[in-house]
Amino acid sequence: MAKLKVAALISGRGSNLQALIDGCADGTIPAEIVLVISNNPDAAGLARARQAGIPTQVIDHRRFRDRAAFDAALDTALKASGAALICLAGFMRLLTRDFVETWRDRMINIHPSLLPAFPGLDTHARAIAGGHRFAGCTVHFVRFETDTGPIVVQARVPVRPDDTPETLASRVLEVEHKAYPLALRLLAEGRVRIEGERATVDAEPPDGFRLGDLPVPPVADRRSGALQSRPHPSPAEGNSNETGTETMVNHDDTHHRATYSGFIKLATISSIVVAIALGLMALFLL
Ligand code: GRF
Repeated sequence: MAKLKVAALISGRGSNLQALIDGCADGTIPAEIVLVISNNPDAAGLARARQAGIPTQVIDHRRFRDRAAFDAALDTALKASGAALICLAGFMRLLTRDFVETWRDRMINIHPSLLPAFPGLDTHARAIAGGHRFAGCTVHFVRFETDTGPIVVQARVPVRPDDTPETLASRVLEVEHKAYPLALRLLAEGRVRIEGERATVDAEPPDGFRLGDLPVPPVADRRSGALQSRPHPSPAEGNSNETGTETMVNHDDTHHRATYSGFIKLATISSIVVAIALGLMALFLL
């Protein structure tokens, strides 16, 4: 079977890229990384790619007049590489709607939280501050709205009472390095199907992992923009990752929360109806 051709976009360290490179090199993942692009000329991940003999390209966003022009250059390079799938691996740029739509269902990202909990930045600090028992990571198809899209793989780790954002980040990073190669393997093996906004995966999840996702209602005020973790946005960009975030540990919590809020709504409506009936009775008796 022909190998899936993959391009990776990075901005920094590239430890997830390394995990993908290793999986492709040892034959676990039937894919070939044909190009690594960085928007940052100093990204350490570039050296990892060169070391593995993978072609690299720097497309420095600062040389472009706007996002559309930068994304057009990315698109040209990606198409020329023959890649059928893009893996965002710590790529710290927002992508335009056009670019995201061009690569719809052919672009995945890894995010260091159990989405839909904690899209955006500072995921580990927020998991600790929220008193969550579990944290983790998510590999998902990219949609225009920040950190949304059909989920392929999630892996979770416990949050310990003495965790700092740093200790939690390093525990999550360890599972990121398993979750991303797993997701890419499943994709390359043709085991992932997307139906609308839901991915289904034809495989058994290893312990501590979950495959595919359940439909998640859109969060109305989640900012639009793009996809993955990124540096703090400038006020001019007019967005914030911190708003409109439902803090849920996993999809089961989503379900419980929805059931609970349905119950509250029903109880409120019933109380109003009873109050009106009592009022009418009182009026009638007077
Ligand atoms: C990872 O934590 C990933 O989840 C997030 O950015 C970080 C990139 O790290 N999207 P690395 O460059 O892969 O080491």
